[in-house]
Amino acid sequence: MIKPLIIGNWKMNHGRQEALHFATRFCEQNKIKKGVDVALAPSFLSLSVVKEALKDLPVLIGGQNCHWMDQGAFTGEVSPVFLKEAGCHFVLLGHSERRHLFLENSLDIGKKVSAVMHHHMTAVLCIGEKEAERDANQTFTVLKNQLEQGLSGVVSPLLLVIAYEPVWAIGTGKNATPEQVVEVHAFLRAEMIAKFGKEVGEKIRILYGGSVNTSNAKSLLACPHVNGLLIGGASLKIDSFLQIIDDAPPFERN
Ligand code: PGA
Repeated sequence: MIKPLIIGNWKMNHGRQEALHFATRFCEQNKIKKGVDVALAPSFLSLSVVKEALKDLPVLIGGQNCHWMDQGAFTGEVSPVFLKEAGCHFVLLGHSERRHLFLENSLDIGKKVSAVMHHHMTAVLCIGEKEAERDANQTFTVLKNQLEQGLSGVVSPLLLVIAYEPVWAIGTGKNATPEQVVEVHAFLRAEMIAKFGKEVGEKIRILYGGSVNTSNAKSLLACPHVNGLLIGGASLKIDSFLQIIDDAPPFERN
């Protein structure tokens, strides 16, 4: 069994004050279930307050994006080096909002994956098909292309997490059915094994994301090869986030 990973993606929500309020209350509740890895991706400006407020809890902190270069004339960008300095353990890359609203392409995302690993952080590569692509039976072709380009520069496969988020399920309240999730996750597991070999490929965590909430988390987590969740809206409230963490099957060492 792979230890489940539950990541809250706050997107452009919770500025420093709200983030501090969340983190302080989250810490007071001190209810994080053992055997589950818990992570939060606040906005860049909220990273330091969240990191400090949660220092006594086993919560990993990460960025929502970064550039592939360490430094330079890239106005408005954030370097992976700065994220590392801020105490980040991981970076979300290729989120569908980055791909579709900010026109990021898979080749640039691949450079980011490589840069993040180079700085010893985990790269959470987000992939997913649009509704029209699913309707046209192109789901697996789209995912395969996103993987091929996104993983072209992987330096440390053990620092890789894949997050499957069908674009049509993000923020829409329409989550994929367990059958669709089982089918895609089995495909992604086979791809990981084909690319990195059985031993490593079986260890890479594959998360599901897209309208995960307290009513569907348990059944999604029960699907084979779903090793955790990437949660947007439901991670903004402490109660729902904690409830979902509690729904994850805890990892026990043999
Ligand atoms: P959602 O977002 O849970 O609000 O659908 C998920 C994500 O975008 O990572």
